[in-house]
Amino acid sequence: MKRADSSRPQEVVVPQNGRPSEPIRLSPRDSAPRLSTVSSRADPSLKLGETRVPIASDLDIVKARQEGRRIASDVGFSLTDLVLIATAISELARNIVRYARNGEIAIKSLSNSVHSGIEIIARDEGPGIKDVDQVMQVGFSTSAGLGLGLPGVRRLMDEFAIQSKLGHGTTVITKKWKN
Ligand SMILES: Nc1ncnc2c1ncn2[C@@H]1O[C@H](COP(=O)(O)OP(=O)(O)OP(=O)(O)O)[C@@H](O)[C@H]1O
Ligand SMILES: [Mg+2]
Repeated sequence: MKRADSSRPQEVVVPQNGRPSEPIRLSPRDSAPRLSTVSSRADPSLKLGETRVPIASDLDIVKARQEGRRIASDVGFSLTDLVLIATAISELARNIVRYARNGEIAIKSLSNSVHSGIEIIARDEGPGIKDVDQVMQVGFSTSAGLGLGLPGVRRLMDEFAIQSKLGHGTTVITKKWKN
C-alpha cells in the first residue's frame, strides 16, 4: 500500500449523493451583509454572504452551531436537516478546539439554477493530519475519542472534502443540498 507522503498536502474528495455540479452562484439574499462576527470591509477576502465564526472555545462551538442553523433555516432546510447540519458544524468545530486549539468555521448559503444548499468550511492552522484516509475510518482517534466525528460529518452531508498538511493545518469543506 502506498504510504502517505506527509510533506505534501493530502486531499480526499468524496462525491456523495452526486448532485450535478453546476456553477454555484450566490443567492439574492446573499447580497445583504449578514455577518455578525467579521465584516467584509474588515476582511477583503470575505465572500458576500459568508459568515465566519472564529473558533477557540466551547462557547464558539455553540455560536457556530447557532449561526449554521440560522443560515440553513433561511435556505429552507427541514427541521431534521437543521439538526444534522448543526451536528456536522459541532463536530468540525469541536475538532478545531481539540486538535488545533483555534481556527474558524465559514458558513455560506449556496444556490444554482436547480438547487439550494449550504457550505461549511472548517479551517485551522493546527498540527495537520498525517493520513487523511486513516482519520476517515470509523473508530480512528488520536485522543481516545470515539472516532466518529469526521466519518459522521461525511455521512450527514452530501459533499465532503478534507485537505491537510502536517504542521500547516486542516481544511474540511462540506456541503448539503436541500431536497
Ligand atoms: N482539525 C484537526 N486537526 C488535526 N487533527 C484532526 C483534526 N480533526 C480531526 N483530526 C484527527 O482525526 C481523528 C479523527 O477525528 P474524528 O472527529 O473522526 O474523531 P475524534 O475527534 O477522535 O473522536 P470523536 O469526534 O468521535 O469524539 C482525530 O482523532 C484526530 O487525530
Ligand atoms: Mg472529533
